[in-house]
Formats: sequence, C-alpha cells, structure tokens
Amino acid sequence: MKKVITYGTYDLFHQGHYNLLKRAKNLGDYLIVGVTTDNFDLERGKMNTCNNVMERIEAVKATGLADQIVIEEYRGQKIDDIQKYGVDIFAIGSDWEGYFDYLNEFCKVVYLPRTEGISSTQLRKERPTVNIGVIGTGSIASRFVPESDNVNSAIITAAYNPNLTENTAFCEQFKVPVTAHSLDELYKNCNAVYIASPHYTHYEYAKSSLMAGKHVLCETPFVFSKDQAEELYQIAEEKSLVLMVALKTAYTPAFGHLFSLLKSRVIGDIVEVNASVTTLTDEKSEKLDSTRIGGSMSENACFPLLPIFKFLGTDFRNINFYSKMKNNVDMFTKAVFRYDHAVASFQVGLGVKTEGSMTIAGTRGYVYVPAPWWKTDYFEVRYEDQNQNKKYFYPFVGEGLRYEIKDFVASILSNGSCFSKVSKNENVKMAEVQEMYIKGNNLFKI
Ligand code: CTP
Repeated sequence: MKKVITYGTYDLFHQGHYNLLKRAKNLGDYLIVGVTTDNFDLERGKMNTCNNVMERIEAVKATGLADQIVIEEYRGQKIDDIQKYGVDIFAIGSDWEGYFDYLNEFCKVVYLPRTEGISSTQLRKERPTVNIGVIGTGSIASRFVPESDNVNSAIITAAYNPNLTENTAFCEQFKVPVTAHSLDELYKNCNAVYIASPHYTHYEYAKSSLMAGKHVLCETPFVFSKDQAEELYQIAEEKSLVLMVALKTAYTPAFGHLFSLLKSRVIGDIVEVNASVTTLTDEKSEKLDSTRIGGSMSENACFPLLPIFKFLGTDFRNINFYSKMKNNVDMFTKAVFRYDHAVASFQVGLGVKTEGSMTIAGTRGYVYVPAPWWKTDYFEVRYEDQNQNKKYFYPFVGEGLRYEIKDFVASILSNGSCFSKVSKNENVKMAEVQEMYIKGNNLFKI
C-alpha cells in the first residue's frame, strides 16, 4: 500500500484545497492529511486564520478524501510523521516548490499543481474589515501600523496628528491612505480608532471618538481618574462600542497561559506578586514632563498592575507609594499593596534601573518570569523539589502588538461578544491607582 501525506492550514476551506487533496490521494492508496494547530500557526506568525483547528479538521474530513487526519504541532514534525506512519510520498502545492526537498532523504517529494485564482488569503480579504484611524503618530504608532498588517481584517485607513508635517511624513512612510487634517476627517474614514497620542490627551480623544460612534483601542496608561474611566465605559456601553486598552502584555500567548496555570493552582495560594519595569529615559523627554503627567508611575505602572490585579484581584486594602523625585516627577516609584491574604509590590523607573523580572510566590512553589517579563516568551514554575520545575516557552512574534490588534478586531466583528482579556473593572482600577498617586495618597517621597 502506497501512503501519501500532505499538510496545510485549510482555513476557509476552498476548491484549491479540495483539488490538492484529490491530486495527492491519486498518487497512492492511503492519504494522511496534516492540519496545523492554532498554536503552531501562531508560532509561525500566521495569526490571521478565521477557522479554528476543529473547524479546519472538520472541513478536511467532510471531503471524504482523507484516510487519516493528524495535527501538526511543531517544526520538524513532518520527518517524525513520515517515519512513524511509513509514508512513501510527501505531496504539497507548487507554491512550496523546492522548499521541502530536504524530505527526499525520508520519502519521495512531489510538488502538485496549485489551483489558480483562489487562496485562503484572498477569501479572508473578502470578509468584513475594521477600518482603523490612528490618532497620534509617534513611536508606538510606527510599530502598530506594520504589526496590523499581520492581522486579518484590520486595515489602517487614516491617521491624525495636529502637527500636519509629522502626520504627512507618517502617512507617507506607512502608506496610510488618508492624512486627516481634522478629527472629523479621521472619523469619516474609519469605524475604529487607535489612540497613541501623549498620555494626558487620552481621555479627550477617547471621549470624542466614542461620541463619534467609533470603537476605541486606547494606548496605556488609559486615563488618570476613576471617574474618567467609568464615564468612557458608560458611553461605550450606551453606544454598543468596543472600548479596549492596549495593554499588550495581557494579549500575549505567554501571559495568557501563565494566567490559566496560576488559576489552576500550580503554585497553590498566591501570597506575593512582585514585578518591575524600568526604562532609563532622557531627562528632557516628554515622558518626564511634570506638566504633561510624565513620570515613572504614569509611564510604566500599568504593566505591573496587570499581573497584580489578574492574580490577586482588585480588592486591595491600601497602597503605599515610595518615590524618588526630580524636577517634580517620580524618577522611580516603589508601590506596596496590602491584600487580606497577600501582598504585592512593583518598582517602576525612568531614571533608575533595576532587573525587569516578575516573581509570583505561592504556598506550593513560585513562578519566575525573566526580564523583560512584560514581553516574555518564557517562564519557569519552580518548586522546593527542583526535579518538579517546569519551563514554558511561547512564541512572541514581532513587536507583540498584533495579539491585541487581533482581539480588538475580533471583538468588533463579533459585536463585543469576544472575551475581554482585561476587564472594565481592572482598567477602571488602574485609572484609580494613577489617581491615588497623583493625589499623593500614602505617597512618601525619598
Ligand atoms: N493549495 C492549492 N491551490 C490553492 C491554494 C492552496 O493547491 N489555490 C494547496 C497548497 O499548496 C497546500 C494546501 O493547498 O498544499 C494547503 O494550503 P494552505 O496554506 O492551507 O492554503 P492557502 O489557500 O494557500 O492559504 P494561505 O492563503 O493562507 O497561504
């Protein structure tokens, strides 16, 4: 019996896939089809698939052409499968011509003709899109636009910056179709807005965008008071709009899995969370301008607040802040939270440097996430008995912004029914912590 194997993603299953499977089947007597898992696709940077692995497997099954379906989970698996299943022929579309020649050592490699004029990429383009207008064209926006190219259904249609020269240069560099001269012009050209302007302008821009009926993805820090945060959520709810904060760490694969592991009690009860984020910054930078809510707290606190709130909840009793000040801004702040049954702390700095790691201590063991923990692709769960220690690795592709963009777009296209990785309550509490700090509650200057 001649065994043939072929692999694919088979997203939005189409005639080209069917023809390929048929041609592959005709090469032998028994056809094995490998379907990539969602995680493997993510790892390869392919995160724009519309169907999940179960749907894609079902589509292949429905053709009746596959005698066996296997899932492809890791790089190098093809060689293992060929040997494990005693495969005679590896078949794949001619778009891969030459690429899999290395498999000739293990079986015969055949490149089959591809069906012209159809592909999953093409079909995905025909689906509804979210047209995003960008407010603010600084460094984070410059990373956001290229990252959005990797997200299916996200199209950057316009950009706005009150400084027209900067805006024109940005739109030319990133090929943004509309250089908006006003917010109205931006709103006319989009149905969602990404706010990447200076921190102190977030509230006004977010409110204006929501009032104009636009979904909002707002950069961190969201806003600086509880009332402002609640007001924005209320407008979003009344108008059935998605309001999301671009806290990229929350959307990365590693953080998502760390959250699930901790909730399944791999280290028992969590007793302490400690995390640091320090980014040495030029003293003349706007980030250290006291008239524009600059400083370490406003710039970096949202990152450690995320694991603290995710793992311990938002119900803390009090917070003490210890800040090293210069020119009226905090160059460094340490915050200590008291919970009923736990304690948390963080260090943030723009003028002081420390190790940017995170440790979560529990009654059975602890988690160590090395620097920079907020964009990690790796962490370790450690126990008293070191033989039990376990290392976890995850993809972190590109700048990592594509994960939050994907969730934002999915939320809009599913009319908000998509699970939100950071809740309204968590975002409101983060704004409240910023407010407590600005008001100087329990603030000790050193
Ligand atoms: N294929 C084909 N003809 C097409 C599209 C795909 O023969 N018009 C083949 C590919 O060469 C591959 C298999 O179908 O052997 C699975 O390809 P997959 O990457 O899942 O499909 P694409 O439509 O090419 O997906 P994408 O556009 O995301 O690359």
